[in-house]
Parts: sequence; structure tokens; C-alpha cells
Amino acid sequence: MALSKGDKVAVLTSGGDAPGMNAALRAVARVGAELELDMVGVEDGYAGLIAGRVVPLSIRKLDEASRRGGTFLGTARSKEFATPDGQKKARDTIAREGIRGLVVIGGNGSLAGAHTLCDAETKGGPLLVAGIPASIDNDLACTSMSIGVDTAMNTIVEACDRIFDTAAAHHRTFIVEVMGRECGYLAMTAGIAAGADAVLVREVGKTDDEIVEHVVSTMRRAYSAPSEVGDTTKKRVLVIKAEGVHIDSARLKELVDTRIKQELPGTDTRVTVLGHVVRGGTPTAFDRLLGARLGNAALRALADGRTDVMAGWVGPGVPGPPTPYDPYVVLTPLEQVLAETAKLMSGESPLAMWRKKIFQEVERILQR
Ligand code: F6P
Repeated sequence: MALSKGDKVAVLTSGGDAPGMNAALRAVARVGAELELDMVGVEDGYAGLIAGRVVPLSIRKLDEASRRGGTFLGTARSKEFATPDGQKKARDTIAREGIRGLVVIGGNGSLAGAHTLCDAETKGGPLLVAGIPASIDNDLACTSMSIGVDTAMNTIVEACDRIFDTAAAHHRTFIVEVMGRECGYLAMTAGIAAGADAVLVREVGKTDDEIVEHVVSTMRRAYSAPSEVGDTTKKRVLVIKAEGVHIDSARLKELVDTRIKQELPGTDTRVTVLGHVVRGGTPTAFDRLLGARLGNAALRALADGRTDVMAGWVGPGVPGPPTPYDPYVVLTPLEQVLAETAKLMSGESPLAMWRKKIFQEVERILQR
């Protein structure tokens, strides 16, 4: 059943924070205000839901927060929520506060938690629940990007650019470990963007020995390449290692060092674990916009009575099946591209009409 004016909708952020979460919160709060819903926040994810920490949402404060990383509402990885007692307490809060709808912003575990709450009883029927994917790991299906990935990727690339300078100066090999839990997406995409010499990800399924061999052969190639006078650029190696690759980075360095001692004397290796540096920081424009889009769609879906769903992003509405080379890449005949572009520019295409409608909606939402 669709929500009515004045219905209470709560929003929470859960699990690892991701840059752009605040932009999603802002969109949820602003669109909720536009739809005349009673919007509230829950502090510290499911831990706060269990403890009944429900607070008013200030659009003004969220406007400010949307430019920052982290999450304005706080977050947690609640073990208690996975227990029957924790679930009961969370449901009690929902009933006591008169919450009709819940928006959960988070990763895999957080959305699994959202799914369990879909049958929570409220005065108007079962709780309406919508999820928004936010995790720097990009390990969620049904969205091409989760909130936070783009910022994390940019942070890694910037760090690697810095590391490249010192690596080149000392002709060193750096193994840079990046977050991503079991998923190699962040390491691979950042590695390509940074111009890394090798990227190690769990998904490829290499044994420890094969990983060591991969690093050593990359070094061999780099250090044996003839260099022109004054050109030191090739006498350095940058290896990005995803967190999910189970061999410890320090151990990998040890094994590589043992192998190169005879073969490449004079070269040395260093390890940098970027860790939580990758998860913080100012969200990129892309992540802010992604947060805004997903927040908008999730809240409107709830208001329309949709439940047990996640709002995902699949990129611009380009027709045609994906290529066999990349699921997010389509090939469109140039003639069609030119015809569609002409319609876009003249305002006739569905995309043009959709944009016009959104521009008008955004204008209204920002007037609050
Ligand atoms: O899921 C996001 C993430 O940053 C992973 O990349 C990482 O493995 C994990 O969270 C770290 O979690 P915590 O901050 O709880 O140590």
C-alpha cells in the first residue's frame, strides 16, 4: 500500500561507511519533505534501531554533510541485530515509533538485514523497506556502481601517483594493498587507472607461488628493460594487491625478496597498506550524484508502496544488449547515435523528456 502524507519514514546507514552516503541521506530527506512524509534518522545503523535512537532529520545539516565523507548518522556492524533478541528489539522500535517505511543505506550485510525486516508489523501493514547500495568494495549485484566506489578509486589512484614518484626515485618495487574485502573490483579498476604494472586479485585464483612468480616476472621485465640516459621511469614497479588475496603483503614481500636476491641485486621492495585511508575523504561529484539519484528513487519507490527492493544504478538508458566484452558496454550503430542525439537536443526523445521532468522536480525539491 502506498504511503500517505505524514507517514513516518526512517533512514539509517549501516556497515562500512562509504563516501556519498551523506548525499544519499540528503536526497532521502529532501525528497521525503517534498512528498510531505515525516522523515527521521536512526543513529548508528541497526545498533541504533535496537536501542531506539531515532532522531529528527535536518535538511540544512544534511546539505552541509553531503559534501563530506563518512556518515552523518553514524554506522555500526551490529552483531546483536543478527540475534532473535536483537531483531525483536528493532521491531519494537519500529512499532513504538510508528515507522511505516525504512530506507537502509549500506552493503551486502546491511541489505540482508533490511530484507529480514520486511515483515515487521506496523499500524498500516507490513513495514515498507528499500535498500540503497553503498560500499567501496563494489561487491553488490544489480547495480553497476555502489556509492563510495568512485571516491575510493580516486583516492587509490592519487596515492599511487605519489608512490610512483618515490618508487621511481629509488628504483623500487612497491606492493600497495587496497581494501575491497573479497572483491577485486577496486584493486583492478584503480590499478588500470593508476597505470600499475601488475594487479593481484583473489578472483583469478592464483596460488601463492604463482603470485610470487607474477611479481618477480613483472620486476624482471621492468628492471631489465634498456633505459635511455636520465630515464628512470621504467626502473620501478607498482603492484596493486587486493585485500582479498589471502597471502599477507609482508609475507609476499619476503618471498619476493628471497627470489630476487640473486637475480636482481640492488633492487628492493616496499609494502604500503592503504587501509582505511581509502574509505574516508571528500566524496567525488559522481558519488554525490549517485547518492542523490538512488536516494530519490528509493524514497519514491517506498512512497508508491514498493517494498523489499534495492535501487541500483545501471548507467544511462542506452538501448541494446551488452557486449560480450563488458556487461556495461553496449555497441550502438552510429546512425542511431546521431538520430537519438538529434532528438535529445530537440527535446523529443524519452531521455530528453525525462531530463526535463527531473530538472523541474529538482528545482522544487531545492526550494525547501
Ligand atoms: O566493506 C567495506 C570495507 O572497508 C572492506 O573493504 C574492508 O574489508 C572492511 O570494510 C573493513 O571493515 P572495518 O572497518 O570494520 O575494519
